[in-house]
Amino acid sequence: MKLKEIYNLSIQMGIDADPRGRAAVEKGLQNVRAKYEKMDEKEKEYFDRETLINPYSDTRLHFGDPELEIKKIFAGIDIDGDELLLAKHLGDIDACVAHHPRGIALAKLHDVMPLQADVLNQYGVPINVAEALLHTRISEVGRGLSASNHYRALDIARLLQMPYMCTHTVTDSLVFQFLKQRVEGERFGTVGEVLDALLEIPEYRESKKRGMGPEIFSGKRENRAGRVALTEITGGTDGAHDIYEKLAQAGVGTVIAMHQSEKHVKFAEKAHVNVVIAGHMSSDSVGMNLFLDTIEEKGVEIVPCGGLLRVVRTRAF
Ligand SMILES: [Fe+2]
Ligand SMILES: [Fe+2]
Repeated sequence: MKLKEIYNLSIQMGIDADPRGRAAVEKGLQNVRAKYEKMDEKEKEYFDRETLINPYSDTRLHFGDPELEIKKIFAGIDIDGDELLLAKHLGDIDACVAHHPRGIALAKLHDVMPLQADVLNQYGVPINVAEALLHTRISEVGRGLSASNHYRALDIARLLQMPYMCTHTVTDSLVFQFLKQRVEGERFGTVGEVLDALLEIPEYRESKKRGMGPEIFSGKRENRAGRVALTEITGGTDGAHDIYEKLAQAGVGTVIAMHQSEKHVKFAEKAHVNVVIAGHMSSDSVGMNLFLDTIEEKGVEIVPCGGLLRVVRTRAF
Protein backbone atom coordinates (compact mmCIF):
# COMPACT_ATOMS: atom_id res chain seq x y z
CA MET A 1 0.00 0.00 0.00
CA LYS A 2 1.04 3.57 -0.59
CA LEU A 3 1.36 5.81 2.47
CA LYS A 4 -1.58 7.92 1.26
CA GLU A 5 -3.72 4.79 0.82
CA ILE A 6 -3.16 3.79 4.45
CA TYR A 7 -4.05 7.32 5.59
CA ASN A 8 -7.13 7.59 3.35
CA LEU A 9 -8.34 4.14 4.41
CA SER A 10 -8.14 5.20 8.07
CA ILE A 11 -10.36 8.22 7.35
CA GLN A 12 -12.89 6.19 5.37
CA MET A 13 -13.06 3.47 8.04
CA GLY A 14 -13.46 6.23 10.65
CA ILE A 15 -16.36 7.76 8.72
CA ASP A 16 -18.05 4.36 8.31
CA ALA A 17 -17.71 3.72 12.06
CA ASP A 18 -18.65 7.28 13.10
CA PRO A 19 -21.58 7.25 15.56
CA ARG A 20 -23.17 10.15 13.61
CA GLY A 21 -23.31 8.11 10.40
CA ARG A 22 -21.65 8.78 7.04
CA ALA A 23 -24.34 11.17 5.71
CA ALA A 24 -23.99 13.51 8.71
CA VAL A 25 -20.19 13.47 8.53
CA GLU A 26 -20.22 14.26 4.81
CA LYS A 27 -22.67 17.10 5.41
CA GLY A 28 -20.18 18.44 7.97
CA LEU A 29 -17.41 18.36 5.35
CA GLN A 30 -19.65 20.28 2.93
CA ASN A 31 -20.25 22.92 5.59
CA VAL A 32 -16.49 23.31 6.15
CA ARG A 33 -15.98 23.76 2.38
CA ALA A 34 -18.78 26.35 2.14
CA LYS A 35 -17.19 28.31 5.00
CA TYR A 36 -13.74 28.07 3.38
CA GLU A 37 -14.98 29.35 0.03
CA LYS A 38 -16.35 32.49 1.69
CA MET A 39 -13.03 33.26 3.42
CA ASP A 40 -10.79 36.10 2.31
CA GLU A 41 -7.10 35.46 1.56
CA LYS A 42 -6.00 36.41 5.08
CA GLU A 43 -8.36 33.89 6.70
CA LYS A 44 -7.33 31.22 4.18
CA GLU A 45 -3.68 31.61 5.20
CA TYR A 46 -4.46 30.11 8.62
CA PHE A 47 -7.11 27.69 7.47
CA ASP A 48 -6.17 24.01 7.83
CA ARG A 49 -6.98 22.67 4.34
CA GLU A 50 -6.81 19.10 5.55
CA THR A 51 -10.19 19.70 7.23
CA LEU A 52 -11.76 19.91 3.74
CA ILE A 53 -11.26 16.17 3.25
CA ASN A 54 -10.63 14.80 6.74
CA PRO A 55 -13.35 15.36 9.37
CA TYR A 56 -11.06 14.24 12.24
CA SER A 57 -8.68 16.86 13.58
CA ASP A 58 -6.76 14.24 15.56
CA THR A 59 -6.02 11.94 12.62
CA ARG A 60 -3.24 13.09 10.35
CA LEU A 61 -0.48 12.12 7.98
CA HIS A 62 2.22 14.32 9.46
CA PHE A 63 5.23 13.46 7.47
CA GLY A 64 6.30 11.33 4.48
CA ASP A 65 5.87 11.08 0.71
CA PRO A 66 2.22 10.08 0.14
CA GLU A 67 3.29 7.98 -2.87
CA LEU A 68 5.79 5.93 -0.86
CA GLU A 69 5.18 2.16 -1.06
CA ILE A 70 4.80 0.75 2.48
CA LYS A 71 5.63 -2.87 3.25
CA LYS A 72 6.27 -2.80 6.99
CA ILE A 73 5.09 -0.42 9.70
CA PHE A 74 5.64 0.28 13.37
CA ALA A 75 2.17 0.52 14.94
CA GLY A 76 1.76 1.81 18.48
CA ILE A 77 -0.61 3.50 20.88
CA ASP A 78 2.08 6.13 21.51
CA ILE A 79 5.02 6.69 19.19
CA ASP A 80 7.60 9.21 20.30
CA GLY A 81 11.32 9.73 19.97
CA ASP A 82 12.31 6.32 21.37
CA GLU A 83 10.10 4.34 19.01
CA LEU A 84 11.08 6.51 16.05
CA LEU A 85 14.78 5.97 16.73
CA LEU A 86 14.20 2.23 17.10
CA ALA A 87 12.21 2.13 13.85
CA LYS A 88 15.08 3.83 12.05
CA HIS A 89 17.63 1.56 13.74
CA LEU A 90 15.82 -1.61 12.58
CA GLY A 91 16.30 -0.42 9.02
CA ASP A 92 13.29 -2.02 7.32
CA ILE A 93 10.41 0.00 8.85
CA ASP A 94 8.77 2.15 6.17
CA ALA A 95 6.44 4.20 8.40
CA CYS A 96 5.14 4.69 11.94
CA VAL A 97 1.40 4.67 12.71
CA ALA A 98 0.49 5.90 16.20
CA HIS A 99 -2.91 6.05 17.88
CA HIS A 100 -2.47 9.05 20.17
CA PRO A 101 -2.13 12.32 18.32
CA ARG A 102 0.90 14.58 18.13
CA GLY A 103 1.51 17.94 16.44
CA ILE A 104 -1.55 19.75 15.11
CA ALA A 105 -3.58 16.56 15.68
CA LEU A 106 -3.08 17.01 19.45
CA ALA A 107 -3.28 20.80 19.43
CA LYS A 108 -6.69 20.52 17.75
CA LEU A 109 -7.87 17.34 19.52
CA HIS A 110 -10.90 19.13 20.98
CA ASP A 111 -12.31 19.72 17.47
CA VAL A 112 -13.48 16.08 17.34
CA MET A 113 -15.35 16.31 20.65
CA PRO A 114 -18.71 17.53 19.26
CA LEU A 115 -19.42 13.97 18.10
CA GLN A 116 -19.90 13.07 21.78
CA ALA A 117 -23.11 15.13 21.78
CA ASP A 118 -24.60 12.83 19.16
CA VAL A 119 -23.60 9.74 21.13
CA LEU A 120 -25.23 11.15 24.29
CA ASN A 121 -28.31 12.05 22.25
CA GLN A 122 -28.55 8.48 20.97
CA TYR A 123 -28.74 7.34 24.60
CA GLY A 124 -31.60 9.74 25.29
CA VAL A 125 -29.93 12.95 26.52
CA PRO A 126 -31.62 15.90 24.77
CA ILE A 127 -29.23 17.28 22.14
CA ASN A 128 -29.48 20.83 23.53
CA VAL A 129 -28.40 19.63 26.99
CA ALA A 130 -25.59 17.45 25.59
CA GLU A 131 -24.27 20.28 23.40
CA ALA A 132 -24.40 22.88 26.18
CA LEU A 133 -22.53 20.72 28.72
CA LEU A 134 -20.02 19.63 26.13
CA HIS A 135 -19.41 23.16 24.91
CA THR A 136 -17.96 24.16 28.29
CA ARG A 137 -15.81 21.03 28.41
CA ILE A 138 -14.46 21.51 24.85
CA SER A 139 -13.25 25.01 25.75
CA GLU A 140 -11.59 23.62 28.87
CA VAL A 141 -9.80 20.87 26.90
CA GLY A 142 -8.68 23.38 24.25
CA ARG A 143 -7.14 25.67 26.90
CA GLY A 144 -5.56 22.68 28.63
CA LEU A 145 -3.82 21.57 25.44
CA SER A 146 -2.56 24.99 24.47
CA ALA A 147 0.61 25.06 26.60
CA SER A 148 2.15 21.75 25.47
CA ASN A 149 5.12 21.11 23.19
CA HIS A 150 3.19 19.20 20.53
CA TYR A 151 5.80 18.93 17.78
CA ARG A 152 8.69 17.11 19.46
CA ALA A 153 7.97 13.65 18.01
CA LEU A 154 7.26 15.14 14.59
CA ASP A 155 10.59 16.99 14.62
CA ILE A 156 12.32 13.67 15.27
CA ALA A 157 10.33 11.92 12.51
CA ARG A 158 11.34 14.67 10.08
CA LEU A 159 15.02 14.56 11.05
CA LEU A 160 15.05 10.77 10.74
CA GLN A 161 13.05 10.96 7.50
CA MET A 162 10.60 8.48 9.03
CA PRO A 163 7.01 8.74 7.67
CA TYR A 164 4.60 9.28 10.57
CA MET A 165 0.84 9.37 10.95
CA CYS A 166 -1.65 9.17 13.80
CA THR A 167 -5.09 7.61 13.68
CA HIS A 168 -6.98 8.66 16.81
CA THR A 169 -10.75 9.17 16.65
CA VAL A 170 -11.01 6.98 13.54
CA THR A 171 -9.89 3.90 15.46
CA ASP A 172 -11.70 4.93 18.68
CA SER A 173 -14.90 4.86 16.59
CA LEU A 174 -13.97 1.35 15.43
CA VAL A 175 -13.74 0.10 19.03
CA PHE A 176 -16.97 2.00 19.83
CA GLN A 177 -18.85 0.07 17.10
CA PHE A 178 -17.16 -3.19 18.06
CA LEU A 179 -18.22 -2.89 21.73
CA LYS A 180 -21.65 -1.49 20.84
CA GLN A 181 -22.43 -4.56 18.81
CA ARG A 182 -21.51 -6.81 21.73
CA VAL A 183 -23.31 -4.77 24.38
CA GLU A 184 -26.53 -4.19 22.44
CA GLY A 185 -27.03 -7.88 21.76
CA GLU A 186 -26.82 -8.76 25.48
CA ARG A 187 -29.08 -8.42 28.48
CA PHE A 188 -26.81 -7.83 31.44
CA GLY A 189 -28.18 -8.58 34.89
CA THR A 190 -25.41 -7.02 36.93
CA VAL A 191 -22.45 -4.68 36.52
CA GLY A 192 -20.23 -7.71 37.16
CA GLU A 193 -21.68 -9.37 34.05
CA VAL A 194 -20.74 -6.31 31.96
CA LEU A 195 -17.19 -6.55 33.26
CA ASP A 196 -17.06 -10.31 32.58
CA ALA A 197 -18.31 -9.77 29.01
CA LEU A 198 -15.36 -7.45 28.37
CA LEU A 199 -13.02 -10.20 29.53
CA GLU A 200 -14.17 -12.36 26.62
CA ILE A 201 -12.27 -9.94 24.35
CA PRO A 202 -8.59 -10.96 24.06
CA GLU A 203 -7.12 -7.45 24.46
CA TYR A 204 -8.90 -7.06 27.83
CA ARG A 205 -7.84 -10.52 28.99
CA GLU A 206 -4.20 -9.80 28.12
CA SER A 207 -4.46 -6.42 29.76
CA LYS A 208 -5.76 -7.99 32.99
CA LYS A 209 -2.69 -10.26 33.02
CA ARG A 210 -0.58 -7.12 32.70
CA GLY A 211 -2.32 -5.56 35.71
CA MET A 212 -4.54 -3.20 33.72
CA GLY A 213 -7.77 -5.18 33.32
CA PRO A 214 -11.32 -3.84 33.27
CA GLU A 215 -12.46 -2.37 36.60
CA ILE A 216 -15.55 -0.96 38.23
CA PHE A 217 -14.93 2.68 39.22
CA SER A 218 -18.49 3.54 40.29
CA GLY A 219 -20.99 1.07 41.75
CA LYS A 220 -20.49 -2.57 42.72
CA ARG A 221 -20.31 -5.93 40.93
CA GLU A 222 -23.71 -6.99 42.24
CA ASN A 223 -25.48 -3.74 41.26
CA ARG A 224 -28.13 -4.16 38.58
CA ALA A 225 -26.63 -2.91 35.32
CA GLY A 226 -29.72 -1.29 33.79
CA ARG A 227 -29.18 0.14 30.33
CA VAL A 228 -25.52 0.04 29.33
CA ALA A 229 -24.15 3.04 27.42
CA LEU A 230 -20.85 3.48 25.55
CA THR A 231 -20.59 7.22 26.02
CA GLU A 232 -16.88 7.42 26.84
CA ILE A 233 -15.17 5.47 24.08
CA THR A 234 -14.88 7.82 21.10
CA GLY A 235 -14.79 11.59 20.65
CA GLY A 236 -11.32 12.80 21.61
CA THR A 237 -11.10 12.68 25.39
CA ASP A 238 -13.18 12.78 28.60
CA GLY A 239 -16.44 14.62 28.12
CA ALA A 240 -18.38 16.78 30.59
CA HIS A 241 -18.23 15.63 34.23
CA ASP A 242 -21.76 16.86 34.87
CA ILE A 243 -23.37 14.58 32.28
CA TYR A 244 -24.10 11.61 34.60
CA GLU A 245 -27.21 13.11 36.18
CA LYS A 246 -28.59 13.67 32.66
CA LEU A 247 -27.66 10.12 31.62
CA ALA A 248 -29.40 8.72 34.71
CA GLN A 249 -32.52 10.75 33.89
CA ALA A 250 -32.34 9.39 30.33
CA GLY A 251 -32.46 5.82 31.68
CA VAL A 252 -28.78 4.82 31.61
CA GLY A 253 -27.66 2.56 34.45
CA THR A 254 -24.09 1.75 33.50
CA VAL A 255 -21.48 3.56 31.44
CA ILE A 256 -18.56 1.76 29.82
CA ALA A 257 -15.58 4.12 29.58
CA MET A 258 -11.98 3.71 28.41
CA HIS A 259 -10.69 5.77 31.33
CA GLN A 260 -12.01 8.37 33.73
CA SER A 261 -10.73 11.19 35.93
CA GLU A 262 -11.44 11.24 39.68
CA LYS A 263 -13.77 14.18 39.14
CA HIS A 264 -15.82 12.14 36.65
CA VAL A 265 -15.96 9.18 39.06
CA LYS A 266 -17.30 11.41 41.86
CA PHE A 267 -20.02 12.87 39.63
CA ALA A 268 -21.01 9.40 38.34
CA GLU A 269 -21.28 8.11 41.93
CA LYS A 270 -23.39 11.09 42.93
CA ALA A 271 -25.78 10.35 40.03
CA HIS A 272 -25.85 6.60 40.95
CA VAL A 273 -24.49 5.67 37.52
CA ASN A 274 -22.31 2.55 37.50
CA VAL A 275 -19.05 2.93 35.61
CA VAL A 276 -17.07 0.06 34.11
CA ILE A 277 -13.61 1.15 33.00
CA ALA A 278 -12.72 -1.10 30.09
CA GLY A 279 -9.08 0.02 30.14
CA HIS A 280 -7.17 2.62 28.18
CA MET A 281 -4.34 0.90 26.28
CA SER A 282 -6.47 -2.23 25.81
CA SER A 283 -9.44 -0.33 24.33
CA ASP A 284 -7.17 1.77 22.12
CA SER A 285 -5.56 -1.50 21.01
CA VAL A 286 -8.91 -3.02 19.99
CA GLY A 287 -9.60 0.00 17.76
CA MET A 288 -6.11 0.02 16.27
CA ASN A 289 -6.23 -3.74 15.69
CA LEU A 290 -9.49 -3.48 13.71
CA PHE A 291 -7.77 -0.94 11.42
CA LEU A 292 -4.45 -2.79 11.29
CA ASP A 293 -6.16 -6.07 10.35
CA THR A 294 -7.47 -4.37 7.22
CA ILE A 295 -4.09 -3.05 6.12
CA GLU A 296 -2.40 -6.33 7.00
CA GLU A 297 -4.87 -8.08 4.69
CA LYS A 298 -3.62 -5.73 1.99
CA GLY A 299 -0.07 -6.96 2.45
CA VAL A 300 1.45 -4.56 5.02
CA GLU A 301 3.47 -6.19 7.80
CA ILE A 302 2.68 -4.87 11.29
CA VAL A 303 5.29 -4.54 14.05
CA PRO A 304 3.47 -3.69 17.31
CA CYS A 305 5.17 -1.24 19.70
CA GLY A 306 4.41 1.66 22.03
CA GLY A 307 1.84 -0.15 24.20
CA LEU A 308 -0.17 -1.79 21.40
CA LEU A 309 -1.59 -5.21 22.33
CA ARG A 310 -1.75 -6.72 18.87
CA VAL A 311 -4.56 -9.23 18.30
CA VAL A 312 -5.44 -10.32 14.79
CA ARG A 313 -9.12 -10.99 14.08
CA THR A 314 -11.46 -11.13 11.16
CA ARG A 315 -13.42 -7.91 11.31
CA ALA A 316 -16.57 -8.56 13.25
CA PHE A 317 -18.90 -5.81 11.97
FE1 LIG B 1 -8.24 6.18 21.95
FE1 LIG C 1 -6.22 6.81 24.28
